[in-house]
Amino acid sequence: MFAKDFLHSKAEKRKLSMVTCYDYTFARLLSQTAIDAILVGDSVAMVVYGHSSTLPANIDMMRAHTEAVARGAGAKMVVADMPFLTYRKGIPAALDAAQALMSAGAHAVKLEGVDGHEDVVQRMVQSGIPVMGHLGLQPQSVHQYGGYRIQGRGDDAAREIVREAIALQELGAFAVVLECIPATLGEEVTAALRIPTIGIGAGPACDGQILVLQDLLGMNIDKKPKFVRCFADGAGSVASAIAEFDAAVKDGAFPAAGESYQ
Ligand code: KIV
Repeated sequence: MFAKDFLHSKAEKRKLSMVTCYDYTFARLLSQTAIDAILVGDSVAMVVYGHSSTLPANIDMMRAHTEAVARGAGAKMVVADMPFLTYRKGIPAALDAAQALMSAGAHAVKLEGVDGHEDVVQRMVQSGIPVMGHLGLQPQSVHQYGGYRIQGRGDDAAREIVREAIALQELGAFAVVLECIPATLGEEVTAALRIPTIGIGAGPACDGQILVLQDLLGMNIDKKPKFVRCFADGAGSVASAIAEFDAAVKDGAFPAAGESYQ
């Protein structure tokens, strides 16, 4: 899958599936699946490093995790998040950050919003860097919202999101993530665009869906957002495997002769 294939998927009404990934081991596993693309999200700061927001994800962190994922991802398309403010300091700084991610193995970058950095999006596209947008709840703006809150409720807010989505499309973005907006607005934005929408808490009408890998695997033991569905009991599997290992070590059943060198 390449950025241009996203457009074909929309034209052919074929839904797109994406998950986040931050490391080599999971990237290897994902490389064996039918998933369409992998996002090295700046959610790495929360999921892997335990921060309370994505703001601490910096370019060194994103480059290191993008490299690890790209080593394991095989033929999968890898999209990497542009960290907080890296695309708000003018074109040269944004191109440097994008270069770091693309040379680490990303095939595209994602950035939040559009107002005030239209020139950056345009220059990146003109420079051969596929750009994915991200509208609705923009986690890097959490302090402006005063928390992680649903966006686009009410007519004015909804019109703004439609306007921003069309602006991103016209600037050359190949897809737009829509996060935490009413399902009706997800449907409206999807219908208004030629490029695909990838929803996370944006309803079933989006052209594709994305979830954080640890969320969909049921590994997140903290409060989970309404839009998350756990497709496995990862936390339960980890707990029972560790309990079995612990018991086997303590009662002398592990390692067995076949697990020891003669
Ligand atoms: O960083 C991230 O994981 C994301 C997804 C929630 C879309 O941006």
